[in-house]
Amino acid sequence: MKLVRAKDYKDMSRKAANFLSAQVILKENSVLGLATGGTSEGIYEQLVDWYRKGDIDFSMVSTVNLDEYVGLDGSNERSYRYYMEHHLFRHINIKERNCHLPDGMAGNLEEECRRYDRLIERLGGIDMQLLGVGENGHIGFNEPDEAFEQMTHCVWLKESTIDANARYFASREEVPRRAITMGIKAIMQARAIVLCASGKRKAGILKRVLCGPVTPEVPGSVLQMHPRLIVVADAEALGE
Ligand code: GLP
Repeated sequence: MKLVRAKDYKDMSRKAANFLSAQVILKENSVLGLATGGTSEGIYEQLVDWYRKGDIDFSMVSTVNLDEYVGLDGSNERSYRYYMEHHLFRHINIKERNCHLPDGMAGNLEEECRRYDRLIERLGGIDMQLLGVGENGHIGFNEPDEAFEQMTHCVWLKESTIDANARYFASREEVPRRAITMGIKAIMQARAIVLCASGKRKAGILKRVLCGPVTPEVPGSVLQMHPRLIVVADAEALGE
């Protein structure tokens, strides 16, 4: 594991964006695994800035996002599709057909999960996966459970996740109860992983993820087994 210490959120964003940018420069047709949430916003902002300055070319890049809420379509501002369009896709020269997220509106969710697994396989797997971590240790929406779920699957969100994500919705009641998430297998098969964390809120869980026992009760702890894990965290997140 490589640990990169950042001063604060801005510094974390820049340092994490550096890894993604290097990946795309070294391999122009990279497959990037992308994450949503507050942690990633600054990273995308930095990438857009470098794209505008002519430093990165996304024309051959493909992306696969970790997850999507069930029942929200791409025009809904709270959907992860909207988030990605808003923070990244519409500002760079990536091709629309190369930007993939699970479809939370799919009629048959089980089939949608299988489609997503096949898609990742067809793309040849993920070159670099960006990850944030939930306060309960989730990665993507792989919630704490009795076993690591390997494949893309549909989850019922934990109450703690609904609480944590309520800040993005008008009220807690509006937070969808279900989501589709990439499984642990595709994440762990990514050739490199960049795990990011910022702020005091993440200090306790980051310690358990990186130093605690590897257990499905803390899904992110599985990352300890990854041969190329890069952790980019700021001073507050590393506080414990
Ligand atoms: C969300 C997303 C995750 C994200 C995590 C942390 O629920 N499903 O992919 O990494 O929780 O979010 P934040 O960065 O806003 O703390």
